[in-house]
Amino acid sequence: MSRVLYLSPSLFCLFLLFPEFISSSDPCDPTNHRDPLALRPDKITVLINGYAESRIPLLQSLAARYTASPLVSSVLVLWGNPSTPAQTLAQLAHNLSTSSFGPATISLVRQRSSSLNLRFLPRPSITTRAVLICDDDVEVDSKSFEFAFRVWRANPDRLIGLFVRSHDVDLATKKWIYTVHPDRYSIVLTKFMILGTRYLFRYSCEGGAAMGEMRRTVDRMRNCEDILMNFVVADETNAGPVLVGAERVRDWGDARNEGDDGRSGSNDGVGSRVKEVGLSSRKAEHRKRRGMCIAKFHKVLGRMPLRYSYGKVVNSVGEQGLCMKGGKLVLCDRYQ
Ligand SMILES: *[C@@H]1O[C@H](CO)[C@@H](O)[C@H](O)[C@H]1NC(C)=O
Repeated sequence: MSRVLYLSPSLFCLFLLFPEFISSSDPCDPTNHRDPLALRPDKITVLINGYAESRIPLLQSLAARYTASPLVSSVLVLWGNPSTPAQTLAQLAHNLSTSSFGPATISLVRQRSSSLNLRFLPRPSITTRAVLICDDDVEVDSKSFEFAFRVWRANPDRLIGLFVRSHDVDLATKKWIYTVHPDRYSIVLTKFMILGTRYLFRYSCEGGAAMGEMRRTVDRMRNCEDILMNFVVADETNAGPVLVGAERVRDWGDARNEGDDGRSGSNDGVGSRVKEVGLSSRKAEHRKRRGMCIAKFHKVLGRMPLRYSYGKVVNSVGEQGLCMKGGKLVLCDRYQ
């Protein structure tokens, strides 16, 4: 893909109009399932989801900012809006290709469809053992980003994130629900999620008929790809995700997350109070749909792999991670 960026914008249009020319091989071809040991452990690939044309200026500055970090190998902007004119995308691709602050390249990939599963497609251009999956409207300070990557290196099998939620059972209805707990969490959101590259292949290509059915649920609901990735990882590790505390994080708000909480300010549910009473109907509907996904995935799998984690890893003096637990800082390993 990155080779294409050096072509003239008009030629680039052709490639955008016929994306099958550039997405050559089957991403699930076994040769795409590279040995994680052959991938770089010391750098990360950033996959930014882009959809709204109105947010292109913000997207561009976020993508450029990531290239300023020496830990970033490359940035891929995954464009998921099929109705964006090819001309706009050609221009964006050109702008992105010239806006890197360092050796890391920024490339634009037009997704084949608006399927949210494509966020997790294993791509041959990913040469790092870790990827950051993030939205085009979440700004994280570089120190927190680099700290989160260090936390991943210490926990390469886990999901690492800045925004978390929970599954639970509603005791009255005996149904699975999607919620926020003040002291624990089991789901990392794709607003900012670091994970091992190998999980992309697992999500997209493995798991047989059950995984296929769950991916179809994501398409039908146009939602829940992040929840499904949490199922995939927790099912393999039998462990919950790791919440990292960010110093500064700004969430500009994604229409898709509109029903969600977690606006700028507190970046997680942990430590904040749950106020079910004040839920807007939109928010309630969003949570209901997410709860339906959890119920569906549980039913298809025949088990509930999601596990709770407690505490938050915060950057502190020295390398020893500290966790916030019950308002107090304690050593994280007591909770992992
Ligand atoms: C690309 O950059 C030019 C010049 O800064 C700007 O006018 C244009 O709006 C940008 N277009 C896109 C799609 O990013």
